[in-house]
Amino acid sequence: MNPADAVIDPKALGEYRHFRLETDRDGIVWLTFDKAGASTNTFSKDVMEELVAIIDRLAGEKPRGLVIRSGKDSGFIAGADVEEFTRVDQVDDALAIVRRGWDAYNRLAALPFPTLALVRGFCMGGGLELAIACRYRIAVDEPGTRFALPEVMLGILPGWGGVMRLPKLVGPQAALDMMMTGRSVDARRAKRMGLVDATVPPRVMENAARIMLQEAPAPRALPFLQRLMNGPLKGVVAAMAKSQLEKKARRDQYPAPYAILELWQKYDGDPFLPPPQDDASIAKLVQHPTTKNLIRIFGLQERMKSLGKASDFAAARVHVIGAGTMGSDIAAICALRGLTVTLQDTVPERIAPAVKRAAELFGKRLRDKLRARDALDRLIPDVPGDGVRHADVIIEAIVENLEIKRKLFAELEASAKPTAILATNTSSLKLADIGAAMKAPARLIGLHFFNPVPQMQLVEVVAGDATDPEWARRGAAFTRQIDKLPLPVKDAPGFLVNRVLGPYMANAFRMLDEGIKAETLDKAAEQFGMPMGPITLADTVGLDICAAAGKALAGADATPPKRLQALLEAGKLGKKSGEGFYRWEKGKPVKGAADAVTDDLVKRIIDPYLAEAQKAVAEGIVADADLADAGLIFGTGFAPFRGGPMYYLRSAAGT
Ligand code: NAI
Repeated sequence: MNPADAVIDPKALGEYRHFRLETDRDGIVWLTFDKAGASTNTFSKDVMEELVAIIDRLAGEKPRGLVIRSGKDSGFIAGADVEEFTRVDQVDDALAIVRRGWDAYNRLAALPFPTLALVRGFCMGGGLELAIACRYRIAVDEPGTRFALPEVMLGILPGWGGVMRLPKLVGPQAALDMMMTGRSVDARRAKRMGLVDATVPPRVMENAARIMLQEAPAPRALPFLQRLMNGPLKGVVAAMAKSQLEKKARRDQYPAPYAILELWQKYDGDPFLPPPQDDASIAKLVQHPTTKNLIRIFGLQERMKSLGKASDFAAARVHVIGAGTMGSDIAAICALRGLTVTLQDTVPERIAPAVKRAAELFGKRLRDKLRARDALDRLIPDVPGDGVRHADVIIEAIVENLEIKRKLFAELEASAKPTAILATNTSSLKLADIGAAMKAPARLIGLHFFNPVPQMQLVEVVAGDATDPEWARRGAAFTRQIDKLPLPVKDAPGFLVNRVLGPYMANAFRMLDEGIKAETLDKAAEQFGMPMGPITLADTVGLDICAAAGKALAGADATPPKRLQALLEAGKLGKKSGEGFYRWEKGKPVKGAADAVTDDLVKRIIDPYLAEAQKAVAEGIVADADLADAGLIFGTGFAPFRGGPMYYLRSAAGT
């Protein structure tokens, strides 16, 4: 990504480690951020110091304008270096990090000439705060261009000027929504909300930046009502945002979004104004256990991502067999990620609804007719299974029947490319059994997706005793390619996630049979921090699937829970049939009042989950306790603010 050569005089303005500084013949300085020794631009201490030196120098030289852009193909700027944050153990260390960026961006904002951030690819956290400290922003209109302030997900707040500047730029409601949820917006949405001044195609981006700096239009003024909401109506906006927030997150469990709201309302976003005992202060936030735990989870997520780097396998074509609940969504997300996908089922009538669902997903995710149509073009119905011969990855998601799967894999092995990954999405069958008729079962792996596939980030990558670890590594690389998180697991009943959920759900069903209300059980689990209680979860997953999973784990002879059995016999399968333990209306369970929840009750519900997680780790189902935590947080939603079940057990024991 070099400057447009013909126009820019590559007269270097000094030597920097992480930046290139060039001036063009119009007197505009181009500052290219290209962090040394890293594939992604992040702001660590040395990078920020260099930036400040450059800003100070330019303040003296007063060029006609400044463009800040990225030298990385991966994107603009990912934000602060979170790794530095994981090493923070004193409040003063955290304050020093905040001070560094806060001061730097204030200097950037005060430069006496027009400045512009030219954003292509992700623009996150400290990257977005840099962009909004510039006078203008231009976004390249590509699917990868996304803006977010995800600090809240780490339990911290956008302290480099985000809380101060974003509400003034886009109005408090849109700003608070981005800051309190961490949600990202694409280039077009960013333009509509006023976060960027223009969106442009890549080929004209440099010219567009140059013209904007030369014309230096007056920055967009915030509409009158938005200005009122930033001023006299601040209290009303804050009260509304708070009442929304209280429905979603408890302050004792998730203090950061509350702190963001108050920092804006009471201190106009200046993180150095709240006294240390104030809940909106950095000191209070970084000392809260949630913050440590969320930063820990970020680290675990990075670790799972790195597991996908152990192989450079990359697929172009995927073949999915079975267009049911799972296969259709697996095929859709592969097409969404740019892969060509053939989708096979027994008759076209089974594939048609899958394609229709995929079209809805593309429309929602891509929000662009052309891109959605391209994705749909990449998803090819394939009843005869012609795609098998060309595919780099073949994923089987047909009925859970051993004989049929075994026969299928023997056939696939004969016609697939020798380099193709052969994967099953089985939930309960052993790889060794499925691969029994294969000539080289070392090639068979499991890629166990979770329902609903578009929302669930985790994929368990299963290696059986016979599996060659290299195929599992390729499976993990493919999982990353489709933007999921790979968790390597051993081939044992339930793998990790379903194995741990099994006893937890079975125990909840028993407690129901004892006469405890479904509402009370759900409320107790939610109080602990689960995203959804076990009974609502059962209804959501489908009671038939719960019963089958229960049987597979506990053995066919185990007595099934009574209420569950009765509902199944009555054909009440949960959300999908309109009724299960709850009646479902418009996709939501109709719940009565819960009884009082005691600590004892919470413990009775959660203990089986924790005990099973310990057993799974002891048996080596996953490599270590940290990976178990990662899998269970991303696979079951285990209360993130507690840092994972194994970590919770360790901290509860005080070790
Ligand atoms: P499903 O019953 O919704 O879909 C299975 C599809 O496979 C049907 O459309 C059927 O026509 C097709 N099919 C059956 N035999 C076939 C063959 N020989 N060739 C081509 N197509 C064939 O099943 P679902 O729920 O999608 O499950 C599929 C697999 O995924 C199973 O192994 C299941 O254990 C596993 N799984 C299911 C999860 C769930 O929540 N439903 C979660 C994770 C894994």
